[in-house]
Amino acid sequence: MSQPPLTTDELRRCAARLPRVNLAHLPTPLDEVPRFAEAISRGTRASGSRVFVKRDDCTGLLFGGNKTRHNDFILADALAQGADLLVWGAGVQSNNCRQTAAGCAKLGLECRLYLGRTGHGEEVQGNLLLDYLVGAHVEIVDAPIGPELDALLQQRAAEWRQRGRKVYSWDRRRVRPLGAITYALCVAEIVDQMTKAGLTPTAIYSAASGATGAGLALGKAVLGVGAALRLILPIRWPWDVRADMAEIANDAATRLDLPHRLQPEDFDASLDYVGPGYGEMTPEGREAFALLARKEGILLDPVYTSKAMAAVIDDVRNGRRGPREVIVFVHTGGQPAVFAYRDEILHT
Ligand SMILES: Cc1ncc(COP(=O)(O)O)c(C=O)c1O
Repeated sequence: MSQPPLTTDELRRCAARLPRVNLAHLPTPLDEVPRFAEAISRGTRASGSRVFVKRDDCTGLLFGGNKTRHNDFILADALAQGADLLVWGAGVQSNNCRQTAAGCAKLGLECRLYLGRTGHGEEVQGNLLLDYLVGAHVEIVDAPIGPELDALLQQRAAEWRQRGRKVYSWDRRRVRPLGAITYALCVAEIVDQMTKAGLTPTAIYSAASGATGAGLALGKAVLGVGAALRLILPIRWPWDVRADMAEIANDAATRLDLPHRLQPEDFDASLDYVGPGYGEMTPEGREAFALLARKEGILLDPVYTSKAMAAVIDDVRNGRRGPREVIVFVHTGGQPAVFAYRDEILHT
């Protein structure tokens, strides 16, 4: 990447040209977790390293998470298009849909959710319960998340348009670059918070399956952040994830009027912690969940962040992190799923 780095204010100024609603409580805190760091690094070459949690589980709206940050731009785009109805969908315990339903409630938009069965958390609990509580219309469908559910959403959106509604619908190509921009801005928050604390991060970890990872990588490139960025995937998509993230990041850069471009090789995106499948807890994820809860009183979620934190622990224990590291873990939220996964979480 030959472009000179931008300052955090310069990046914010680029994003200020886009429509935005202020749903998220920003900046989110950056909390150090010393008891957790000591527990995972004792006796390893990373002993003495520091771990910080970027609390994007505290973005505020209806239990927060990364999609509330995304929705500052996505729902602003919906309003700018004159939409009166959002047609959205994902898995039945989707954090995205819960936060989008809450954003719609706050902005006075009708929200129709088409939620695919995943075999987990199908009782009215956790995210699904919250969807109903904020007034979303929910239909549970059999289409698996990915291309099939996307096709179903397009079809439902077309039906609502035929009935005269102004629909803004889940469309990967339009929506995800807007989400990515918010995670480039999240890197700017991290840089500012770390600078204020007199620290330089050496590694950033996050759960990511598309927009969030693309945005973090774009932020790292644009701001010239030297820290390693490890993106931990919760799902095996039927496409090349690194190429997909590069495309999202480059679309985001275009919308920001920035010349930076990323290649698939720029992404360290790991499938090593998915385990048996999307939404299925792993022993390593359970350990990460229990450790952070018991050492710091912070909950992870069963589907995304517990697997991402398992990667931090694995890297520390297996010598992939050196001495005196400053690790930032981006907590992307998802805790309401804990209530729908009670039995799986308690089973240790
Ligand atoms: C808690 C949590 N973390 C991470 C992600 C991944 O975000 P993205 O698809 O934007 O990369 C999601 C997506 O739904 C999520 O709910």
